Amino acid sequence: MSYDFSCPDRRGKSLKWDVNEDELPMWVADMDFKTAPEVISALRERVEHGVFGYIDVPDEWYAAYIDWWKRRHGLTIEKEWLAFCTGVIPAISSLVRKFTTPNERVVILTPVYNIFFNSIVNNGRKPLECPLAYSNGEYDIDFDLLEKALQQPQTTMMILCNPHNPVGKIWDKETLAKIGELCYANGVTVISDEIHCDLTAPNEEYVPFALASEICKNISITCVSPTKTFNLAGIQTSAIFIPNVHLRNRAIRAINTDEVAEPNVFACLAATAAFNEGEKWLDELRAYLWKNRVYAEEFINENIPPLKAIVGKATYLLWIDLNGLKNQPHASEIIRKEGKLVLNEGSSYGKAGEGFLRLNLATSFENLKEGLVRLKKSVDLIKSNR
Ligand SMILES: Cc1ncc(COP(=O)(O)O)c(C=O)c1O
Repeated sequence: MSYDFSCPDRRGKSLKWDVNEDELPMWVADMDFKTAPEVISALRERVEHGVFGYIDVPDEWYAAYIDWWKRRHGLTIEKEWLAFCTGVIPAISSLVRKFTTPNERVVILTPVYNIFFNSIVNNGRKPLECPLAYSNGEYDIDFDLLEKALQQPQTTMMILCNPHNPVGKIWDKETLAKIGELCYANGVTVISDEIHCDLTAPNEEYVPFALASEICKNISITCVSPTKTFNLAGIQTSAIFIPNVHLRNRAIRAINTDEVAEPNVFACLAATAAFNEGEKWLDELRAYLWKNRVYAEEFINENIPPLKAIVGKATYLLWIDLNGLKNQPHASEIIRKEGKLVLNEGSSYGKAGEGFLRLNLATSFENLKEGLVRLKKSVDLIKSNR
């Protein structure tokens, strides 16, 4: 390895680490590593320039996204499909407001990223939870259930998480194409949130929704960003791309009306440097994260029964099944109080997340080992009090 994946002290500088001194945070989805040195250099140079007036989205920003998706994901994005946005969630909330009316239903496959609920509910729309089928530690789509959800007269949108936070699943081409067909048949617009797409296991690839079929391409708006991949969430930079011209015109109007389409001086620069110069760093990062994942999965499955780690192929988030531990609706609270380990409670990802926990693996191997020891200690305590 030529890059350094040790973790600087983040206390006082991050939401994730805004916890008590004796607590270890493995919750909020950002990484404890510094971003790629190439990105830091580009930002440093910009800071040294010293003038921070208004800017426009430069041509290099478009080229960086287009080259990255072509090179890494086999998708040709046309320049006019792309628009800058200050974040994936600002884009999703704006698109929900533009493409649905109050009280309409937005389908989500649960358990899913909790903030999707906020984007729907805060805008007076209704989340329609379509639970993923779960058996033998594997998640899949229950297509009968999905079809019924999409057929409801008030359903007008579906938000897809591709790959899927929190279960770490990469949806294959056939699955995506089938979702596209069902949505098309029912007049449902798809938002595909692909923020985790670059954080797959080494040698595993995700499939962009827009690449799965012509239908998928024509009915979707895709949200992408370098912020998970390169640990840039605090810089607030993302993009949407929309192949279909009619959807595109409305989507671009939406994000402009909501004033989330203009970058700060660092936003485009950071994204451009990351995509143009961060490739080697990313490949090393993926190897590091993969080692963490495999270690955590094995440790939990071997040493913390009855907990089961769900085997994931993407994201740095580990989904843990606690259902063997009976009557523990607030396990994360006990684990925080007794084990000083801060995790996300599964129920915040929808009803289908009850009985699960989410653990963030994107930290040093030393922190991870410490976190797992704390998890074991807390679970042993829960078991002994049963
Ligand atoms: C699936 C998903 N979408 C969006 C976000 C947040 O995106 P942003 O910070 O660009 O709003 C996250 C962060 O965890 C996420 O997991």
